[in-house]
Amino acid sequence: MPMKGKLESSILPEKLPAHIAIIMDGNGRWANVKNLDRISGHREGMKSVRSVVRAARNIGVRYVTLYAFSAQNWQRPKLEVDALMGLLKHYLSTESDTLIENGIRLNAIGRLRELPEDVHAALDDTMEKTRHCRDMTLTLALSYGGREEILDAVKRMVSDGASSPENISTANFSSYLYTANLPEPDLLIRTSGEMRISNFMLWQLAYTEIYVTKTLWPDFRKGHLVKAILNYQKRERRFGLTGEQVKIREVI
Ligand code: FPP
Repeated sequence: MPMKGKLESSILPEKLPAHIAIIMDGNGRWANVKNLDRISGHREGMKSVRSVVRAARNIGVRYVTLYAFSAQNWQRPKLEVDALMGLLKHYLSTESDTLIENGIRLNAIGRLRELPEDVHAALDDTMEKTRHCRDMTLTLALSYGGREEILDAVKRMVSDGASSPENISTANFSSYLYTANLPEPDLLIRTSGEMRISNFMLWQLAYTEIYVTKTLWPDFRKGHLVKAILNYQKRERRFGLTGEQVKIREVI
């Protein structure tokens, strides 16, 4: 077991976010500042992925979801799209053993059929190999859009014949989303300072605590994750109730 730093030891296990979702932003800017090409930024961003996934698992977080490639990212220059797909395939082929050793199950959400065949196959392969892992679930959002997810859910509901109004509830609708088997995120982290959701988990983020840091994704490592969790632990989550009601519920 790795040694815990001072900050990490102040994390309260009973208030740990079960599910952390991350918008990994700023790879391009990181590269730009260093006079490198954007792809170098994504390559360095992948190191952050490795570091943050391992740290989250060691801290005891049960679910991590990473916004790795949006439905809109296909419109980037072909060179960059190809590089991102290449990095993803590389990650999948080199990371399976580490995921298994750390008890991490790989999952994916998004319009996965739109991925290149070899990437899709590598994804299926790693998901299959890690199916038995129970310590943490790592979900990659790929070719993912929140609006697209909601539309896909509506289409499936209609084609299932479940479309009569009285059958539709929040729980029932949630079961048609790509995230049917995941709890809603407790904490959303967005790097590089932008204050927006960018079509990410629009339904699921309804009551999620949002943490935005100016740190660019390639610079975001374990210490930054610990800080985000500590910040989350100071929040009062109300879910639409008053502060008083929340306190009474905590006592019960
Ligand atoms: C946003 O930065 C980042 C992405 C669009 C891709 C994220 C991909 C990685 C971190 C590497 C591969 C990931 C995995 C899971 C293997 P940006 O390019 O929008 O940065 P900018 O806003 O500064 O231009």
